[in-house]
Amino acid sequence: MRRNGLVVVSTIKAVALEKYGSPDDLRLVDLPEPKVAPGEVLIRVKAAGVNPVDWKLAAGYLDAIMEVRFPLISGWDVAGVVERVGPDAGEFAVGDEVYGYVRKDWAQNGAYAEFVSAGVRMLAKKPASLSWEQAAGVPLAGLTAYQSIKRVGITAGDTVLIHAAAGGVGSFGVQIAVALGARVIGTASERNHDFLRYLGAEPVAYGDGLTERVRHLAPEGVDAALDFIGGDALEVSLPLVRQSDRVASITTDEVVEHGGHYVWVRPDSADLTALAELAELADAGKLTTHVDRTLPLAEAAEAWRLSASGKTRGKIVLTI
Ligand SMILES: NC(=O)c1ccc[n+]([C@@H]2O[C@H](COP(=O)([O-])OP(=O)(O)OC[C@H]3O[C@@H](n4cnc5c(N)ncnc54)[C@H](OP(=O)(O)O)[C@@H]3O)[C@@H](O)[C@H]2O)c1
Repeated sequence: MRRNGLVVVSTIKAVALEKYGSPDDLRLVDLPEPKVAPGEVLIRVKAAGVNPVDWKLAAGYLDAIMEVRFPLISGWDVAGVVERVGPDAGEFAVGDEVYGYVRKDWAQNGAYAEFVSAGVRMLAKKPASLSWEQAAGVPLAGLTAYQSIKRVGITAGDTVLIHAAAGGVGSFGVQIAVALGARVIGTASERNHDFLRYLGAEPVAYGDGLTERVRHLAPEGVDAALDFIGGDALEVSLPLVRQSDRVASITTDEVVEHGGHYVWVRPDSADLTALAELAELADAGKLTTHVDRTLPLAEAAEAWRLSASGKTRGKIVLTI
């Protein structure tokens, strides 16, 4: 916008960090509205999903592999309304309700804000049957589960072991695998066993004796295993799976040495229809988001502390 011959950049409210830090360093601030590049749209954020990577990135744990620019607005998961359409981004129109995993090539202008810009390839129409909060919880975790499931080729009749089945990634993994016709054995602590049954999985407690508990349910072992937590999940999985190329991990690349797959979720994987497929599953009543906690944007620090506790059932979401 031009006023008195000067370019005036409008500002937006956002939660940001000035440098790498902890939840205590998050500040609610005014920052320039993000630019809307060719192929991008500007989204008025209704809700932003919280993922463990948000606070890990902000703490500097990914510094060796990811470009981070400050002030950093965290958040890669968004559900909101298209406010403006950038050059040659006609796939969406002003007013469209969208959701997406809006990770760009470097981290800076994320979704913990009133507005975020994103390439159309990262977006899909929001599932009509999910609330803003539920939709914002889907993209990163849902795509991680989806891409992991594709990598190990889960099909109807498979028995699959899912570690951390009650978490963000795991809860979507269970629902997608069940929708594909698989039998799912999921690990969680006792307090989440009813939740896992509700999602369609057979629950087992993690910790000492896990291998025996899985063998009790599946004496022949399992067809595929998904490590969504780390720790001893890979070690437990390998002897239980008949083919090691049907093991995927999202937490350690050690899995590759054993013939399995290391998955780092991509917003623009070869399969660009994945987000739309997740929306279809949701609208068919086969996938939903259990929102563990909803907090206002200004309480992002509390959301990070809860996420870091490792006890999230489903998703934590910020509303804007
Ligand atoms: N590579 C990638 O692309 C990618 C993508 C997304 C996430 N990740 C990483 O994957 C991990 C999981 O992400 P998330 O978003 O699902 O996390 P999350 O939602 O915070 O996971 C919390 C869940 O983990 C369960 N849990 C904790 N310790 C467990 C154990 N030893 N065995 C089984 N379950 C356990 C908890 O269940 P109980 O309360 O019952 O213990 C809780 O439900 C994180 O480390 C995250 O950074 C990687």
